[in-house]
Amino acid sequence: MAAVARAHAEALDAADPLAGFRDRFVLEDGDRIYVDGNSLGRLPRKTAELLAARVEEWGSRLVTAWPDWIDLPLEVGDVLAPLVGARPGEVLVADSTTVNLYKLAHAALDVREGAVVARAGDFPTDRYVLQGLAAQRDRELRLVDDVRSALAPPVALVCLSHVDFRTGALEDLAGVTAAAHEAGALALWDLSHSAGAVPVGLGAAGADLAVGCTYKYLNAGPGAPAFLYVRSDLQERLRSPIWGWFAQREQFAMGPEYDPVAGIGRFQAGTPSVLGLAAVEAGARLLAEAGSERLREKSIALTSLAVDLHDAWLAPLGFELGTPRRPDQRGAHVSLRHPDGWRICRALIERANVIPDFRGPDSIRYGLPPVYTRFVDAWDAVDRLRRLVEEGAHLQVEHGTARVT
Ligand SMILES: Cc1ncc(COP(=O)(O)O)c(C=O)c1O
Repeated sequence: MAAVARAHAEALDAADPLAGFRDRFVLEDGDRIYVDGNSLGRLPRKTAELLAARVEEWGSRLVTAWPDWIDLPLEVGDVLAPLVGARPGEVLVADSTTVNLYKLAHAALDVREGAVVARAGDFPTDRYVLQGLAAQRDRELRLVDDVRSALAPPVALVCLSHVDFRTGALEDLAGVTAAAHEAGALALWDLSHSAGAVPVGLGAAGADLAVGCTYKYLNAGPGAPAFLYVRSDLQERLRSPIWGWFAQREQFAMGPEYDPVAGIGRFQAGTPSVLGLAAVEAGARLLAEAGSERLREKSIALTSLAVDLHDAWLAPLGFELGTPRRPDQRGAHVSLRHPDGWRICRALIERANVIPDFRGPDSIRYGLPPVYTRFVDAWDAVDRLRRLVEEGAHLQVEHGTARVT
């Protein structure tokens, strides 16, 4: 297969209706090519401004600003809701993805009997939380490759990533939700690799519960608060296992008994991260302005370019595509598998100034967030990769491990 010329990537950039969004981000790359926005998204310029304003507010108003801050987890949830196909009042921004997953999975087990079903290859924190819960609540945990084949009742909960963190495979959210319901289970989705990258139709699919990170495709910054979704008709029936004062009716009456509010606010625990919420709001507003459908169209074109270049240049060098070939079956990153993937990834960072990440045993992930990634970035990132392997530069990298990969 003949490789696509760089001029073709340049033409795609020239015709890109989202091209203007790139300048809305801080770009201090020089010669660096950043293809790790699926791990940590870029900093929107507006975020720096909003954070500065909120810090100013803190400095000048101190505790008197709390009446303006206290509802931010719900208000920013409403800003984020359209990006995941939810209605106002169904999304809360709080805590981390791990903690939110625990809260919602625990709540689901209160109202459903039976096993927990999840994918054996899913993200570690999801598996660990479910392992812990299954052990604590004396439930069977079915960790399988294909969740649909493991739904023999009784099943309480099916928990799954919408886009797989390693392969980028996009799960059939509506189909799996329907299968879970048929088995009598609730469906809990991890949207960390889809929110802001792939249109997510939680409401249309009748999905029950969801969680997700905001620091990847939503560009809210390292450790920014995560989100959770609970379908409105389920909210009254579910209860968070963490009985914190931010969920309490008449919170400042500080009464003797826990009595959680109605609505999504009942899934709060403690004091929200006001600074973090400013960053989530800025990131979510930017993505909403770009529009889910336009983002998806560009994302498919970007990953398709990377797949074509893989076939032309990388496959002959011993690479294998870890990502589904059908565009409608993948998210916004591609996984490039190679037996020497760890050393190649290190060499890319240290010698070629390309920043991807590595997920064992053999996947180099190229994340291509459509809101700021250019087609020439995708082209150059694959071009540098093939040159590096052709020259054998990775063979000079020592085998080993790193604290963060
Ligand atoms: C699918 C998925 N879930 C959860 C997380 C992380 O959750 P937390 O923000 O709680 O560390 C990640 C992080 O990369 C992820 O990829």
